[in-house]
Amino acid sequence: MIKVGFIIGSTRPGRHTQSIAEWAFKVAKTRQDANYELIDITDFKLPLLDEPIPPAMGQYEKLHTKIWAAKIESLDAFVFVTPEYNHGPSGALKNAIDFLYKEWNNKAAGFVSFGSGHGIRAVEQLRQIMAELQIADVRTQVTFSLFHDFENGNSLKASEHHVKSTHTMLDQLVTWAIALKTVRENKIENLMLKSNVPRDERVTH
Ligand SMILES: Cc1cc2nc3c(=O)[nH]c(=O)nc-3n(C[C@H](O)[C@H](O)[C@H](O)COP(=O)(O)O)c2cc1C
Repeated sequence: MIKVGFIIGSTRPGRHTQSIAEWAFKVAKTRQDANYELIDITDFKLPLLDEPIPPAMGQYEKLHTKIWAAKIESLDAFVFVTPEYNHGPSGALKNAIDFLYKEWNNKAAGFVSFGSGHGIRAVEQLRQIMAELQIADVRTQVTFSLFHDFENGNSLKASEHHVKSTHTMLDQLVTWAIALKTVRENKIENLMLKSNVPRDERVTH
């Protein structure tokens, strides 16, 4: 069965992202179409990127990178639960993403976001990052307003609309995750017979 990780995109003490991720994860757990898992990047104790060789080369030296890589490798799709910091995702989430490369490739992603502007700008930046990592990101996005969806600015008050948009996002995500799993399992080389350029001469950037 498809494995989907909900990645908590904030490490800030007192973070709201955790309650949003836990809420979305609970909605996902009512479904039978995938195995859902909650992933807290604080558990992986990643420092600022400290790998000497660029991650796309896949030569990880540090134990924390290898542990993080094994977790991401084990998943078929991701739901990034992201706050908005200065119109982008948190530095902690970007750092965790930057640590790896091939473990993200040919997988699918969806987003749950929040902020005073619903976290829209953070997700727009994440969508650009997804392209470089060869992650297919689905259209539907679950958004929360810091002003309207929290009681006293503190406790999450999700609506029926949030439940519906979470299911729509997961419908799209699981569909693409299944499709991309077949791409990974068939090994992309077999599907690229149409290209006349020898594999080692192909330009990738
Ligand atoms: C460094 C920082 C920058 C922020 N910048 C924005 C912003 O640009 N847009 C926005 O909507 N909210 C912004 N906020 C408010 C956050 O969305 C809000 O504090 C949210 O609770 C942060 O997520 P967290 O509690 O999980 O850390 C910012 C908060 C922090 C800490």
